[in-house]
Amino acid sequence: MLETWNSDRRRTAIGRTTLSVPARKALTDRQLGSDRTILDYGCGRGGDVRALEQLDCRVTGWDPYYKPEPKAEPASVVLLTYVLNVIEDPAERRDTLRRAWELADALLIVSARLTWEKSKVKGEAFGDGLLTSRQTFQHLYGSSELRSYVEEVTGARVVAAAPGVVYAFKDETARLAYLTQRIVPDAEWLASEDTTSAIAALVDFVERRGRPPRIEEMPRATAELLAHLKPNEVKRLVRETADPHKVEDGGKRSTLNTLLYLAVELFNGRGPFSSLPISMQIDVRAFFSSYKEACMRADRLLLKLRDDGYVRGAMNASQVGKLTPTALYVHRRALDRMPTILRLYEHCASIAAGRPEEWSVAKLKHQGRAVSWLDYPEFDEDPHPKIRSSYMVDLQTLETSHMSYEKSQNRPLLHRKHEFLAPDDPDAPRYRRLTESEMRAGLYEHPHLIGTENGWEAELVRCGRELRGHRLVRRAAD
Ligand SMILES: C[S@@+](CC[C@H](N)C(=O)[O-])C[C@H]1O[C@@H](n2cnc3c(N)ncnc32)[C@H](O)[C@@H]1O
Repeated sequence: MLETWNSDRRRTAIGRTTLSVPARKALTDRQLGSDRTILDYGCGRGGDVRALEQLDCRVTGWDPYYKPEPKAEPASVVLLTYVLNVIEDPAERRDTLRRAWELADALLIVSARLTWEKSKVKGEAFGDGLLTSRQTFQHLYGSSELRSYVEEVTGARVVAAAPGVVYAFKDETARLAYLTQRIVPDAEWLASEDTTSAIAALVDFVERRGRPPRIEEMPRATAELLAHLKPNEVKRLVRETADPHKVEDGGKRSTLNTLLYLAVELFNGRGPFSSLPISMQIDVRAFFSSYKEACMRADRLLLKLRDDGYVRGAMNASQVGKLTPTALYVHRRALDRMPTILRLYEHCASIAAGRPEEWSVAKLKHQGRAVSWLDYPEFDEDPHPKIRSSYMVDLQTLETSHMSYEKSQNRPLLHRKHEFLAPDDPDAPRYRRLTESEMRAGLYEHPHLIGTENGWEAELVRCGRELRGHRLVRRAAD
């Protein structure tokens, strides 16, 4: 095979000192662990293999140039990391993807470089990509191109985990379990050491979820500590201890979460009731008259996403976020507090294009349907955070775009930080106080001037003020 390569592919493999972005993402998504075997197919110099070994993973690597022996064996999870984009022959690219899919027992994770890196890759047109001066080939993918390509070749439904990283599951149940975990993260159970703390943990679950758990949803230690009590006794204890208002609120939250999940599922292809993760099945039984009713309500919710008036109304009514003439901006910490229709809006975008790893504020447009994830690395420390990058997906075309401000001398920045957060966020009062003193000092009198670093600095000078952390003080004489 090597003799037939028309580009110098081995040169695309870099020496990694830390885990690659896709492997890191898969770890945090709990798709890689010591309980699963992993094959890094096209592992290059083996940086990810070594890093995963150090994390006690059972991992092997295979690469046609760097590690051709022993031959690749099937594994639970196969990583195909930045391999497809370096293969210049479309037929071989397809065969490689197909081969990686055959080797995966449970999950194939495919990553590729995206078109937004165009400016970094210089070269001459060659086939459907570019040949660089080092004779390496690059076919940069559009996000939706990668997703539909993997879908077409594997025949599986594919979920975008992050920009340029997609998961293809062998089994629908595993895909749905992954989606549930993204939409309704596992309720954390309080630790239980004795019967009293086990009951407290149970009551906490009931209050948060709005229903009692089934035994299979409990951590083993909790279940064992409660095993000597009769079911009726447990029920009585919960009834007597749980706060009925909290249980009611928990029930509402679970109902909305279930609807959200089923609506995202429809967007992404919905399966039968039995394919839902067990906790979701119990929620459907507890909060709806039937699965059919739940699905019908979720379908209506998804339809409402197309209704500008409805979406706009939800933005106006949202308790969290800053509404501008074009979009609603919400901090990451407050995202789950948006109305369900807006959570659905953001989730659909993330399933289609993948949320980036680093972001702090989501922007949901109200005309057209587009979500951007904006990265303000110092949102908490900087009183007026500067943007580092934005990643946008248009839900109508599924096209994505990326903007980096790293080289910009005059970056856009944020004001009135508290507006992006929920009113009860512990940092909101401090940010609000700063906004109020900035208003009193006249700093917001010319809104068109203060959107970028230079204009803001000029206004601070004009008003004779400067910032010390989150305090506005008189400017020291120069
Ligand atoms: C950009 S490197 C990525 C290496 C590694 N996955 C990483 O992310 O560090 C691309 C690798 O793909 C390998 N490769 C090229 N053609 C391949 C094929 N048909 N099947 C599997 N791997 C291939 C190359 O040898 C090279 O090591």
